[in-house]
Amino acid sequence: MKKIALLTSGGDAPGMNACIRSVVRSAIYHGLEVYGARYGYNGLIEGDIFKMKSFSVSNILQRGGTILKSARSIGFRTKEGREAAFKQIESRGIEGIVAIGGDGTFTGANIFYEEFGIPIVGAPGTIDNDLYGSDYTIGFDTAVNTALEAVDKIRDTANSHDRVFFVEVMGRHSGYIAIQTAIGSGAEMVMVPETSTTIEDILAMLKVGRDKEKTSFLIIVAEGGKLGTASDIAVKVAKKVPELHVRVSTLGHIQRGGSPTAFDRILASRLGIAAVEGLLNGEKNSMAGVINDETRYTNFKLAISKSKPLNQEILKLIDILNV
Ligand code: F6P
Repeated sequence: MKKIALLTSGGDAPGMNACIRSVVRSAIYHGLEVYGARYGYNGLIEGDIFKMKSFSVSNILQRGGTILKSARSIGFRTKEGREAAFKQIESRGIEGIVAIGGDGTFTGANIFYEEFGIPIVGAPGTIDNDLYGSDYTIGFDTAVNTALEAVDKIRDTANSHDRVFFVEVMGRHSGYIAIQTAIGSGAEMVMVPETSTTIEDILAMLKVGRDKEKTSFLIIVAEGGKLGTASDIAVKVAKKVPELHVRVSTLGHIQRGGSPTAFDRILASRLGIAAVEGLLNGEKNSMAGVINDETRYTNFKLAISKSKPLNQEILKLIDILNV
């Protein structure tokens, strides 16, 4: 293998730039030419591909976002789009691809490999931490820290006004961000898509707390839960306990930005090298990950289809610490 392409796709995540730097530098270290594609798979389809050098990735390690830009490519979901991408790759003599992204990125990578046989290795870059085959994904730690900083501030105002706050965090169909944020902020309750908390459960928790003379409450809600958005839940709760002052805060995309934490920079650096070395060692259709502090490769199909279970021990912490 002499030439590889690199792209970032799907929702961006802090640490993607550190991973880009790692892929480029480790590719050069191993004697490969490396080409960046802009806007994820769209760059492959449209031939928006450029040669990267070691200095192309200078001074990006600490920056949020992705210098390669990102997109959720509609074109790559079509056979014609993937054919166009293959032609662009073939005409440049590119023999392998590193794709940094989440489940949508790896779904596309898997189909592309099956159709055209171009080896692709993924590096898990998503704040959601929802990929099987890596204990942590690039960006998750930073997103949790960003959410925590915001929730600490909300706690101050909730406390001053004796309010009940429902704070919605990202995570699509996964409760990882919500759980870590809840534990880190000392929230009274967490609602995640993987478990079923009812309105009655919330009312019971509020009653127990009020009986103990607690005056403010923080409930962290993961988006994508069964009861709807934080606003939907808040409306239902406010109807049942009209004497309480209920407020909602949706943290949104601030969780996707910002300078990556040390943990994410190191994880990204590690996974970038693992992706390149995976390609060189014959990995064809898999995601590089870190499991129990060791680099592992998991077939894309497994990484996207198998759900990573929540740690029940960690979930229990929230109830214990709110006794
Ligand atoms: O997958 C990352 C993520 O931030 C999810 O947590 C969220 O549901 C989704 O992307 C939001 O996507 P978009 O930025 O396209 O609205």
